Amino acid sequence: MSRGALKAPRGTRDFYPEDHRLREWLFDHFRAVSHAFGFEGVDAPVLEHEELFTRKAGEEIVDQLYHFELHDRRYALRGEITPSIARMVMARAGGLRLPLRWYSIPQCWRYERATRGRRREHYQWNMDVWGEPGVTAEAELIAAIFALVDRLGLAPGDVRMRLNSRALLEETLRAGVLRDRGEVFPALCVVIDKLDKIGADAVVEQLADPAGEIRLPPQDARQVVDWLGLRDLGAAADEAGPESQARKDLERLFELLDAYGVADRVEFDASIVRGLAYYTGVVFEAFDADRKLRALCGGGRYDHLLETLGGPPIPAVGFGFGDAVVHELLVEKGALPDLTRQIDAVVYAFSDAERAAAIRLAKRLREDGLGVELVLGTVKPKRALADADRSGARRIYLIGPDELSRGETSVRDLSTGEQTTEPLPG
Ligand code: HAM
Repeated sequence: MSRGALKAPRGTRDFYPEDHRLREWLFDHFRAVSHAFGFEGVDAPVLEHEELFTRKAGEEIVDQLYHFELHDRRYALRGEITPSIARMVMARAGGLRLPLRWYSIPQCWRYERATRGRRREHYQWNMDVWGEPGVTAEAELIAAIFALVDRLGLAPGDVRMRLNSRALLEETLRAGVLRDRGEVFPALCVVIDKLDKIGADAVVEQLADPAGEIRLPPQDARQVVDWLGLRDLGAAADEAGPESQARKDLERLFELLDAYGVADRVEFDASIVRGLAYYTGVVFEAFDADRKLRALCGGGRYDHLLETLGGPPIPAVGFGFGDAVVHELLVEKGALPDLTRQIDAVVYAFSDAERAAAIRLAKRLREDGLGVELVLGTVKPKRALADADRSGARRIYLIGPDELSRGETSVRDLSTGEQTTEPLPG
């Protein structure tokens, strides 16, 4: 076998116990926040029919699909769970009590160039609300994200949310540079999402590319990029006009966020448009306040995704929050917990003669709800004690010939060294 085959594929991770403890710690927080907000857990296969993911708007996520053919069918590993969730909603549309609130923690696969916080596999906490057209849903989701940030022990100022509305941009552009070409709007969003990465000139170039899909006159392309520079909701909203629904929605959203006590952690930023074509309304991304890392999470409203799959119109909004970026931030802020192995007791039989008694004791302790490591081999007492000490257990139950003859076990507290006896189970 080649040496390469013995390594995890680039951009993927092995989770040794210490990594797994941290992962579960984070997932427990994801679950706790989801439950606190009344969301139910769901999951879907990591493998889907490729077609579910392929869209023609030029999104990076489609180019990054892990895909393959098997028995004449084309499959792909999910790069995100949203299309699968949409598929699940569609299969039961009509029978679901709306609005529904679902959360999931899928492992997602994207053939990315692996860099800090960017990997080829990551876990992504998702919360989605289906069937609520109003921004009360957006507000609830954003509040949940901050509830998580707080639970993780990050300071309120460590994470900031940037928020915009694709609907506001769409209204503005449809009244101007996209007057007759509204259909290219999703593709335009995919291009302008690259602003941070490739810079304003390259975005203008792509928007104006005569061989591209959008083909704006260069001065119009420049105008679009200028709009993205707006950081003041009032100024952006003025361009959309006083009757703009998107403007009213954004203003209402900030009022709601105020009621949640998080409005000061959220700012309007016209350059946030998101790189996925399906978003239709409010879009948002959370970043570390120093902007050293990529987005911690991103989401928004996607009211037409179900229809594009051939389903009924059900409005939806949600977000994905990756595990890798927040891990980087927790390291940076020294907020990563030091998690040790959790085990209550070790049970040790000196020899095979005491093994049956040790098994019965371990069984009873386990039934009592304790985490018990039973020493499986025959090792010397000194070694068993040293191992138990290293295991992080609080107590070791020792059963030697003397203990067995008395129907007892010696119980040693591993932090104080104090030793007592307890009767063995009959
Ligand atoms: P997304 O912005 O592509 O959105 O991903 C959401 C988050 O997942 C990112 O902000 C980042 O934290 C994490 N993430 C994405 N790709 C990677 C990667 N290669 N390595 C590490 N972390 C990554 C979506 O996926 C949407 N489906 C979210 C959504 C749910 N919108 C509505 N509902």
